[in-house]
Amino acid sequence: MTSSFSERLLAWFDHHGRKDLPWQQNPSAYHVWLSEVMLQQTQVATVIPYYQRFIERFPDINALADANIDDVLGLWSGLGYYARGRNLHKAAVQIQQHHDAEVPEDFQALLDLPGIGRSTAGAIMALAFHQRYPILDGNVKRVLARYDAINVWPGEKQAEAAMWQRAEILLPEQRIANYIQAQMDLGATLCTRSRPACQQCPLQFDCKAFASGEPTLFPVRKVKKTQPVRHTNWFVYIDQDNQILLEQRPQNGIWGGLWSFPEGKTAEAPDNSLPIKNTLLESSLPEIKHVFSHFKLTINPYLFTAEPIPLVAENNRHIWVKIDQALTLGLPAPVKQLIHFLSSTERML
Ligand code: ADE
Ligand code: SF4
Repeated sequence: MTSSFSERLLAWFDHHGRKDLPWQQNPSAYHVWLSEVMLQQTQVATVIPYYQRFIERFPDINALADANIDDVLGLWSGLGYYARGRNLHKAAVQIQQHHDAEVPEDFQALLDLPGIGRSTAGAIMALAFHQRYPILDGNVKRVLARYDAINVWPGEKQAEAAMWQRAEILLPEQRIANYIQAQMDLGATLCTRSRPACQQCPLQFDCKAFASGEPTLFPVRKVKKTQPVRHTNWFVYIDQDNQILLEQRPQNGIWGGLWSFPEGKTAEAPDNSLPIKNTLLESSLPEIKHVFSHFKLTINPYLFTAEPIPLVAENNRHIWVKIDQALTLGLPAPVKQLIHFLSSTERML
């Protein structure tokens, strides 16, 4: 009979786990909470000196709650993600007011504090209070995704819910604090993102990702949706004085309020027809591709010479402007790019 997931993990922890981190020396709930918040987005080696300075200055919840937020952020300086420092201070004030300045031994009460999510609350319950709660931080997600060879991206809501369930089922009856620490340590030191040391891993013989021969293919990556491609035509009118016609875009929508070229769904004429005598030039302008967060835009610019008669402007949405002066206006990146191109080829036109 082979031993269970948790038995093997605990046996591995006894030999290879981390047992002398500063917050493990005197694992009060305050120490665990502080270290877990610092470790949310930061590596152990970076956290250690910050943790030590913090504990020295704010030895308990009252000291932290009574502190000036600037002093708290001053000690946080360099750790990044300052919302963590702000939330920590806010939470200390709430703990002082509502929980007699003691970190509550209550999962829901922990979740209600700013800066504590489900995984951090679980870690505090397990590491500080020895209660059976699972965690699911980045390391644990990776280990579970590999152990089960989950073939869905773990950011998917359903996949995440399933992993929480799995994490809960795997919990041992005994030694919960060591087990949770073991999970973190295995993910951080052995089942690493790009070079898992499967040969030393206690989970190897029934790890499905190892069996697949390609453990680093797990967790699987998010399927990139192919971006829709939109298409537009730009009408680049240039007069004999090297002035170009620009149109201000509507305030709403992409590039709101910026200056661009008159635009057309077809290559025949701009959507807003303009009373301009013009001639299409053969010399073609290069196609422009621009990537937005939700779609790609392909732009075909067409170059025209225009009569040197200013546009009869009934609105102030159009201007004729010298090519070089145009660059001082608010322009979308591809417009700027095209104007630079025009500027560099001006003499050839
Ligand atoms: N990452 C998050 N929590 C941790 C802990 N308690 N020990 C080591 N790494 C961690
Ligand atoms: Fe990770 Fe390899 Fe262990 Fe599987 S066998 S859990 S992939 S280190």
